[in-house]
Amino acid sequence: MENIKSVLITGANAGLGRECARQLALTSTIEKVYLGCRSREKAEAALTALVADTGRNIFEIVLLDVMDPGSVRTAVSNMKAPVDAVILNAGGTGGRHPTALTPQGVMNIYAVNVQGHVVLIDEMLNRQLITSTVLYAGSEAARGIPKMGVARPALKDASVNEFLNIAVGRTFTAKSDPMDAYASVKLTAALWMSSMARKNPYLRFVTVSPGGTTGTNGFDDMPFLKKLMFKHIGGVLMPLFGMMHSVETGAKRYVDVLTNTKFKSGGFYASKEGSPTGKIVDQFPMFAALANEEFQDNANQAVHQLV
Ligand SMILES: NC(=O)c1ccc[n+]([C@@H]2O[C@H](COP(=O)([O-])OP(=O)(O)OC[C@H]3O[C@@H](n4cnc5c(N)ncnc54)[C@H](OP(=O)(O)O)[C@@H]3O)[C@@H](O)[C@H]2O)c1
Repeated sequence: MENIKSVLITGANAGLGRECARQLALTSTIEKVYLGCRSREKAEAALTALVADTGRNIFEIVLLDVMDPGSVRTAVSNMKAPVDAVILNAGGTGGRHPTALTPQGVMNIYAVNVQGHVVLIDEMLNRQLITSTVLYAGSEAARGIPKMGVARPALKDASVNEFLNIAVGRTFTAKSDPMDAYASVKLTAALWMSSMARKNPYLRFVTVSPGGTTGTNGFDDMPFLKKLMFKHIGGVLMPLFGMMHSVETGAKRYVDVLTNTKFKSGGFYASKEGSPTGKIVDQFPMFAALANEEFQDNANQAVHQLV
């Protein structure tokens, strides 16, 4: 951790991103936390609250919308100094129309979880603006969560084309379960991260799921029944059954992985099978596709064809 003094967090004005910013600021070795946010107003409100909560005036706003590659490129071109770590946290279930296409021709749910982050990391690497670690906010959905009715993504051949089809909305339609699209884009991202780890051995690239986390806005745009299940019923009942934990516990997973090199570059760490909370473990033994280097490189090739 001593070598990590500055951290950029995307989606830092709310939920897990903001809580992670708070926890990092309470770590004495952290000297700067960049709040990557799309709304200046929300970012300023978060910054004020974070300074008050932590007593540390170490926050700086970086305006970026991960659904708009142009805004991400502009944000990087304005960066004055390298950061030690980047936490790719912005994301979620893709708004009210997760499978609708952006002006760049990818699904909203793909744009918010994957595309903007691919652009961010490429641009930062090109300008040598990352010195240590990239963390991606993955999800147990990427390998399926049967207890919560989330199926494991059904890969056919994990070819470049299959990942392209997921991204550009040929695999999922407006009638698809948004959790299926979410699981597939989070899987694509985890594979991209593992491929990036091999291609950039001087940096750490780690995917970590915050786990089933209540008290965030993450389920707000889901269809009524899903929102009822995951946010309202889930937010109240699931913690009682150990199926969800607090935002403090979820964000602590990011901090733990950031600070502990036992979590290996290229790895994907998330909850044990059977529960989306508790200790984090290596996900590769649960789903062989995650460890397949050809699949990882195919996902990496596909995500780069779309930027
Ligand atoms: N909560 C869970 O149970 C859970 C489980 C597994 C994984 N995750 C992952 O954890 C991450 C954080 O989730 P959360 O539950 O904390 O969600 P959240 O409360 O909805 O917070 C999401 C954050 O991302 C920002 N954001 C959304 N779209 C953006 C965009 N286009 N550009 C820049 N920032 C954007 C939001 O900003 P605005 O306020 O402007 O919308 C907000 O700050 C997500 O990647 C999610 O997939 C969550």
